Amino acid sequence: MIELSLRGMRAGYGAVEVLHGLDLDVPSGGLTALLGPNGAGKSTLLSVVAGLLPLRGGSMTWSGTDLAAMPPDARARAGMLLIPERRGIFATMSVRDNLEVFAGRGADLDPALLAFPVLAERLTQLAGSLSGGEQQMLAMSRALLRDTRLLLLDEISFGLAPRVTRQLFDVVRDLALAGTTVVLVEQHLSHALRMADLVYVLARGELAFAGEPGELRGRALPGYVSRAATS
Ligand SMILES: Nc1ncnc2c1ncn2[C@@H]1O[C@H](COP(=O)(O)OP(=O)(O)O)[C@@H](O)[C@H]1O
Ligand SMILES: [Mg+2]
Repeated sequence: MIELSLRGMRAGYGAVEVLHGLDLDVPSGGLTALLGPNGAGKSTLLSVVAGLLPLRGGSMTWSGTDLAAMPPDARARAGMLLIPERRGIFATMSVRDNLEVFAGRGADLDPALLAFPVLAERLTQLAGSLSGGEQQMLAMSRALLRDTRLLLLDEISFGLAPRVTRQLFDVVRDLALAGTTVVLVEQHLSHALRMADLVYVLARGELAFAGEPGELRGRALPGYVSRAATS
């Protein structure tokens, strides 16, 4: 089953086109990695899928529904969740208030606090004063406190220690095992290749590779920073 289907997707900013007609399918319940160097258009693609940026050409469907015709809030209510690059938490609110915004007042916060026990010790602290890793855990909590059908993750490991990254990826894997469809954007190949069922590589707004992770190992990719391949 295909959950998300993009055909001839075009998007950009002002006069600049960034995505030049992409065809991409995301299977239901799997983990799809979207890789590629800085500036390739990964975040732009997620923004268009989430409805933060308009589709300029082509089509996109979500479980057969025309996504372009669906307002962003309707996408969210239907279970689509984007965890954006700069985390998308409320820095001047406490950890508890952030969690309650995600979950609803008085809702059970345990799914997040059990996955990320450190947050339970920081409930009264301002979210902006958390470490980078804790802020990312707080952002990821959103996916645990709502019914998330399609989870779009934009570089959740950026700038974080390996131990924290592993903890976040464990939660991502558990969500995927529980049936959430995950699109994982990463600059670093190694984690993504270990977890993904399907891999797409973007370079300069076009697809440079589509296939299974095993096919990608040891390959030189157009426009790709080779350092990332070994990290
Ligand atoms: N808000 C914006 N306004 C104008 N150009 C942008 C904006 N965001 C991104 N871009 C440009 O779009 C291109 C793709 O960016 P992005 O989607 O963020 O790439 P990636 O996430 O793969 O690093 C880059 O050339 C970037 O400079
Ligand atoms: Mg990006």
